[in-house]
Amino acid sequence: MKDIILLGASGSIGKQTIDIIKKDLSSFNLIGVSVFNNFLYLKQLLHEFSTIRYAFLKDDDIKNQLKIEYPNVNFYSLEDGFNNFIDHLKGDILVNALMGFSGLYPSIFAIKNNMILALANKESLVVGGEYINQLLKDSKSKIYPIDSEHSAIYKCLKQKNDNVKKIILTASGGAFRNLSRDQLKDVTKKDALNHPTWSMGKRITLDSDTMMNKCFEIIEAHYLFKMSYDKIGVILHDESMIHSMVEYLDNTYLAEINKPDMHNPIAYALYESNYPCDLYKNSDYHKFGNYHFHLLDEERFPLIKLAKDVIENKGIYGCVLNACDEECCFAFLNDEISFLQIEEIIFTVMSKIKNDEFILNYDLYEKYDYQARQLTRKIIKQIGVK
Ligand SMILES: NC(=O)c1ccc[n+]([C@@H]2O[C@H](COP(=O)([O-])OP(=O)(O)OC[C@H]3O[C@@H](n4cnc5c(N)ncnc54)[C@H](OP(=O)(O)O)[C@@H]3O)[C@@H](O)[C@H]2O)c1
Repeated sequence: MKDIILLGASGSIGKQTIDIIKKDLSSFNLIGVSVFNNFLYLKQLLHEFSTIRYAFLKDDDIKNQLKIEYPNVNFYSLEDGFNNFIDHLKGDILVNALMGFSGLYPSIFAIKNNMILALANKESLVVGGEYINQLLKDSKSKIYPIDSEHSAIYKCLKQKNDNVKKIILTASGGAFRNLSRDQLKDVTKKDALNHPTWSMGKRITLDSDTMMNKCFEIIEAHYLFKMSYDKIGVILHDESMIHSMVEYLDNTYLAEINKPDMHNPIAYALYESNYPCDLYKNSDYHKFGNYHFHLLDEERFPLIKLAKDVIENKGIYGCVLNACDEECCFAFLNDEISFLQIEEIIFTVMSKIKNDEFILNYDLYEKYDYQARQLTRKIIKQIGVK
């Protein structure tokens, strides 16, 4: 029986993690959860899981009401601080299903405390991959990636990890994959959130459209699998059935084929790779049909080029990129900027980085995250919607 802490329980990954825990209550004991705005979902979880001892939500007043209703649960809210809540947690597996920079501190905490880290929050590695790998050297912790591409690569490398030529990440291309750059000028928020193959949270859906998601995944793969930038490729794949591939020196490939459904990679991480084979029955092979692949055009999706800069420059590059992208996504979803301005602002901010900090610690990332957001907001205000 493993004690589980689930951060970001009310999100897309969080809710699918709950599905898996519910299927096997003799293996998983849910002891800690966090939501942010969605306190109704927290209430539902508290009602369903009497095992919960630690809970975080944003709102202070609702926290005080819940304290009366559930006296055995330790509640935390924004006034107590999210990182302070994290510092009080003890468990075997920490599932990090948070969105954005908020996931970095919990990932560092899990590794420092020798917990299994089931990691959906790719931003942890984009921002602090170098530091996280340093910490892993002195820790009994292990990372199981939940991102479907990285879960697929993890499985392939477990089968065969010698003579690897390249890792190949598949990309759907997002909602606008069939549009030219010219046609991107007028796309709307509603169009942007209509992903062709996956159902996910808003930021990752928008990041899929701009290809920032794949840029982040290259960085994530670099830190997870210790592969240099030139050994990580990306190919567009329309159906999202091939989750990623490993190419070997003898010109053979290993790949994972599965439906675009996150339950499988989440279960693989929760069961630390030994999951019951009949957990998610999939007898749809007769429906497979044709798979389509296209080469990635970097002029059509220019943000992907930033992965190279982040991997080669290290330091605070990934931190600034994530902060800027996060602010641009909020601004687009808030109708403050147009779709193409996301790229424009990100390139402007990245061109202003002075990467002269090489001491890696959480406080430093927090400082640069703050500064990059300030700069991004300033530029957003200056340019306005075109
Ligand atoms: N969704 C997918 O299929 C998928 C696939 C691969 C990787 N991922 C990665 O998994 C992570 C989560 O993605 P998602 O799609 O599940 O996101 P999501 O649906 O937006 O959920 C995000 C979760 O984080 C909470 N949250 C947001 N801001 C927070 C903050 N400042 N402090 C504390 N909690 C905060 C949200 O709480 P409230 O909702 O209560 O406000 C929610 O529980 C991301 O890193 C994403 O890239 C997702």
